[in-house]
Amino acid sequence: MKRLEGKTALITGSARGIGLAFAHAYVREGARVAIADINIARAREAAAELGDAAIAVEMNVTDQTSIDAAVAETADKLGQIDILINNAALFTASPIVEITRDDYNRVFDINVGGTLFTMQAVAKHMIERGIKGRIINMASQAGRRGESLVAVYCATKAAVISLTQSAGLNLIQHGINVNAIAPGVVDGEHWDGVDAFFAKYENKAPGQKKKEVGASVPYGRMGRAEDLTGMAVFLASDEAEYIVAQTYNVDGGQWMS
Ligand SMILES: NC(=O)c1ccc[n+]([C@@H]2O[C@H](COP(=O)([O-])OP(=O)(O)OC[C@H]3O[C@@H](n4cnc5c(N)ncnc54)[C@H](O)[C@@H]3O)[C@@H](O)[C@H]2O)c1
Repeated sequence: MKRLEGKTALITGSARGIGLAFAHAYVREGARVAIADINIARAREAAAELGDAAIAVEMNVTDQTSIDAAVAETADKLGQIDILINNAALFTASPIVEITRDDYNRVFDINVGGTLFTMQAVAKHMIERGIKGRIINMASQAGRRGESLVAVYCATKAAVISLTQSAGLNLIQHGINVNAIAPGVVDGEHWDGVDAFFAKYENKAPGQKKKEVGASVPYGRMGRAEDLTGMAVFLASDEAEYIVAQTYNVDGGQWMS
């Protein structure tokens, strides 16, 4: 018996990276998934790899009309939404004195507003239909403590951990479990961008920051998107029914709670 047999999932920002690995893992476990992303061309390519088990949905998590339309389209095409993964996010980095209001607004709007209002739209859908659903938010080790050059992104991920706690407490009365995953450093296109930021601000050669962070992980290397899929499947499965409002570190030993 597959662990998510017959379930449906909406995964934001899943055209690439960790979200895409989640989509593959969920399909392997018997679910059907909506690959929801602002980059619809790439979402379509990703969905095509998964055949009938996936649909591509255009979604901008900073736009309420787009959120509502994506929820309605997913419910219409997949029947209903049992699982939401709030995965879409943007990284930014700069010294405190160079942070701009535009950058602050943009990153908070995606990482915090996107998480909150997508969670709200899907929770309404679940409550209306009596679905005992699961919501998984993507936090980060960056939400556990500040970092000198990463103030805004760290603050957004601390907010995701807090939202997970409040929403977890508020929605469990409807049988909806809200939890979060806090990855450490996960290699991929996202981290190519992070590496480029540090190359600029810490005067490092391209690739140097990745080598350093990989060596500093107790496990001995950077994470891979596939390292996170076990937790994402578990939190959506029946085995996690009594888990409420928690954020789990999946980071090779970086952060201990
Ligand atoms: N990669 C890491 O090291 C790492 C570490 C900790 C936490 N995380 C978190 O894990 C999640 C996935 O990370 P990733 O490395 O796969 O990121 P990524 O940058 O590779 O993918 C993000 C996806 O989100 C989409 N997106 C961006 N803005 C959007 C919007 N407004 N609406 C809808 N989609 C949008 C992008 O098109 C992209 O497909 C993020 O929440 C990230 O903060 C990543």
